[in-house]
Amino acid sequence: MRKPIIAGNWKMNNTVSQTSALLNQLIPLVKDAACEVVVCVPFTSLFEAVRLTKGTNIAVGAQNVAWAEKGAFTGEISADMLIETGAKYAVIGHSERRQYFGETDESVNKRLNTAVGKGLKAIVCVGETLAEREGGITEKVVKAQIENGFKGVSAADLQSVILAYEPVWAIGTGKTATPQDAQNTVSYIRGVFTSLYGTQNANALRIQYGGSMNAANADELMAQPDIDGGLIGGASLNAADFARVVMYKNLRG
Ligand code: PGA
Repeated sequence: MRKPIIAGNWKMNNTVSQTSALLNQLIPLVKDAACEVVVCVPFTSLFEAVRLTKGTNIAVGAQNVAWAEKGAFTGEISADMLIETGAKYAVIGHSERRQYFGETDESVNKRLNTAVGKGLKAIVCVGETLAEREGGITEKVVKAQIENGFKGVSAADLQSVILAYEPVWAIGTGKTATPQDAQNTVSYIRGVFTSLYGTQNANALRIQYGGSMNAANADELMAQPDIDGGLIGGASLNAADFARVVMYKNLRG
């Protein structure tokens, strides 16, 4: 069985002191969660987030990781640097990175290989834009993102990967994919992994939905058979809202 995993993606929000305040509120609210809980915080908050969550059921992640091990890459943060803070996860290929910072399937692929090679768990994001959805090419787009993004990633490496399906048009817009639409694409994505890695590995892969997932729609999304968690942006900035997502009602029975 796949253990559900719900991750907050704080994006460029929360200073160190704001990080402390939010985590101190969150820790007691999610202590009985049935799923894995992760918060992906700004680089500057990693140390403090790890310190505060020590001994709790919350793991800490970063929002990106360099492909190079070290050297002349101004502004980048290496896997070793993340690991030494105590971070366990790194988000890779978020659509905002692709949209505003020139991230491509090729750079995602390099970051992913480095991250898993170093022992980080990678949350790899894929998803179509509104124009791509309206053009009827959602499946083609996510398939290419996966095939190009996962070059050189072995079946063993795949165990350190969480895939996040995030339709770009649903991110930060308040427009969520319907549970059925999300399920359909996530199930298609699992099929792409089946052809790349075989049924057993594909069935073990955890696939999150992301895009305006919140306290009001989490139960229904989490009830879908192929959705194993969520990547939560806006709603992760409020302790009560994020806790409600993490403590979703299991409608699968
Ligand atoms: P959102 O962001 O929940 O604010 O839509 C999700 C994400 O970008 O990971």
